Amino acid sequence: MELELQSLEREARQLLETLSDSHGLEEFRIRYLGRKGQFSTILRKLGTVSEEDRPRLGLLANSLKENIERLFTERLTEIQSSSGANEKSAISLDLTLPGRIMETGRLHPVTQIMQEVCAIFENLGFSVAEGPDVEQDYYNFEALNIPAHHPARDMHDTFYVSDSILLRTHTSPMQARIMETRQPPLRVIAPGKVYRCDSDITHTPMFHQVEGFLVDKHVSFADLKGVLTVFTQKMFEQELPLRFRPSFFPFTEPSAEVDIACVICGGSGCRVCKKSGWLEILGSGMIDPEVFRMVGYDPEVYSGFAFGLGIERIAMLKYGIDDIRLYYENDQRFLSQF
Ligand code: FA5
Repeated sequence: MELELQSLEREARQLLETLSDSHGLEEFRIRYLGRKGQFSTILRKLGTVSEEDRPRLGLLANSLKENIERLFTERLTEIQSSSGANEKSAISLDLTLPGRIMETGRLHPVTQIMQEVCAIFENLGFSVAEGPDVEQDYYNFEALNIPAHHPARDMHDTFYVSDSILLRTHTSPMQARIMETRQPPLRVIAPGKVYRCDSDITHTPMFHQVEGFLVDKHVSFADLKGVLTVFTQKMFEQELPLRFRPSFFPFTEPSAEVDIACVICGGSGCRVCKKSGWLEILGSGMIDPEVFRMVGYDPEVYSGFAFGLGIERIAMLKYGIDDIRLYYENDQRFLSQF
């Protein structure tokens, strides 16, 4: 067996020197070093030799196999690096190849609009505050005058983490969070993601809102109208008709939903505006005295307005997109246009 081992090692070493490609090396590995290879076959035969010779032959077999394994690895590295070098030199020499264009990243259109919206309000003196996406039931509902079992909760179905923790359905919880910790006068916007059980051409289950609220003495609905009119003029760089439609939110009184003339059809009616010529972009109103009481403000002294803008809706109008879901399909042909 000793002779057999030594001749096998010699044979393998000589063959290895003649190999010049990775295919040949792989065949070599299987033939000599694999589980069913020749070294393993001899090692398996060790059980048949006398107990006296077995340790010595075992040691010899292992050390010869290790030797071949080391030479094999060296040869493999040599072949790999020389083929890499060949490739490199081929590339550097082929001056006829077209250049490689480095794709540059860009901001998602919704992020771009979000930044524009925030910049407009910052120029109007609003400061920016961010809050958690995973919110307490208390801030999302209770503190906004929406107690358990209030029918307004029906429109805000969401994902619950536990009975009292949920993915926020709007950015309005930030009204309570900020007012709890700060005293008027306040002028704040709170941008962020919100979640609802919604999906169609104007609704997605995750979307972005920017909450805005202003609290001071003698704030009126006229201030709300003024701020929102300036905002739309700046955002769309033209005087678009705005429509304040009476609505209901438990945390504002009176409340209004604001529609903007549909820029997709020019107001004549299309599938996006559901043939109405208008598209809703935000909910708004004068902050309800009950909300002030819950955060410890005196509603006899302070008044304020609040609004919650849908960012994707603004992005649809700004870019003339007729299906909101396009923003979230991650299709480069769509996204690279912005
Ligand atoms: C609210 O979410 C209120 N929190 C807004 C508010 C704030 C009212 C402060 C009063 C005071 P509403 O559910 O209407 O309201 O949503 C506000 C805006 O978010 C809508 O006008 C619309 O532009 C957008 N929006 C609502 N649901 C979706 C959705 N699933 N996908 C995309 N945009 C949506």
